Amino acid sequence: MQRGYIKRVLAHCFDPDNRWLSLPCAAAALMVLLVLFKSHEGIAYNYSNECRIYKLGYTIDEARAMASVLNDQQVDSLVARQEHDTIATAVINARYFIPANFDRYLAYHKKDTAERPVGDIISLVNIGADGYDSPSPCDTSKGYLMLVNGRHYLDENYTPDSLAMFSKSYCYEEQRALPVVVDAFMAMQQACKEQTAAQLMVNSAHRSFQQQISMHKRSAKGYAAHAGYSEHQTGLAIDVTSREHPMRWPFDKSEECAWMHAHCHEYGFILRYPKRQSLIFGFAYEPWHLRYVGKEVARRIHDEDITFDEYYAYYIKPHAQAQGR
Ligand code: DAL
Ligand code: ZN
Repeated sequence: MQRGYIKRVLAHCFDPDNRWLSLPCAAAALMVLLVLFKSHEGIAYNYSNECRIYKLGYTIDEARAMASVLNDQQVDSLVARQEHDTIATAVINARYFIPANFDRYLAYHKKDTAERPVGDIISLVNIGADGYDSPSPCDTSKGYLMLVNGRHYLDENYTPDSLAMFSKSYCYEEQRALPVVVDAFMAMQQACKEQTAAQLMVNSAHRSFQQQISMHKRSAKGYAAHAGYSEHQTGLAIDVTSREHPMRWPFDKSEECAWMHAHCHEYGFILRYPKRQSLIFGFAYEPWHLRYVGKEVARRIHDEDITFDEYYAYYIKPHAQAQGR
């Protein structure tokens, strides 16, 4: 009976013939709908990632920026920890920021007593130097872009598909590397000779797992990797000095060494252990150790002034491909 009454009142109010009453009623109904919609929007916003981050003490702009790059799980864990980290915004705006590593950047920052710049924390975490991942086998399917370092190893039976010999004029004892590496070295040494008059020489190139064991035993601490963890085993690395400066340390001060560092990328090589990485990652600086990665990648690494480890983390690992880098 009550229902029928409401129905009749509504029909009366919205009766097109009853113009004076129907118009205000329609407007009032619209207002009610709008208010309901707005309050629903407000409630929904309250539960949005942006608002949840904002409530942690970030500004609205910071919260918006963070919500746009973090996934639900990351925001949940940020909220659970009630974490307001001063570097969070700098982290997400950093050039080499990888969203999947977000929690690790903040965790590293928290325990970092050296107060490193954000860029260094990003680099350290990206290459896995925060101790998060345990060592894993090198992905040799990446060919001349395979990564071998302290966390990516080759098994003792790994040998390159083919090895070519360097001409005797460019080494003191027999040295071999992948054919593409030998060709690139020849082109580089010729240009170096034309421009500096010095003769580049290959001191060491491919080393088998067994050879690396003895190299590690007789080298100064930090200058030879453990067997399996040396990229000399790939046939892609060469140690270069010159006939004029055969010893590694005087070589580093020579004109031909400066030339090699400035131009090796034009031939597909990178300086694998540059000074910068030695400062950030703590590996020894090796002005003589070149690694072949091909001209395009070498140019990029040179132009961006990053290490191969960082390049690999950012551009080659599966998440990098998923993000279209
Ligand atoms: N000297 C470098 C680290 C190696 O042994 O591979
Ligand atoms: Zn080397």
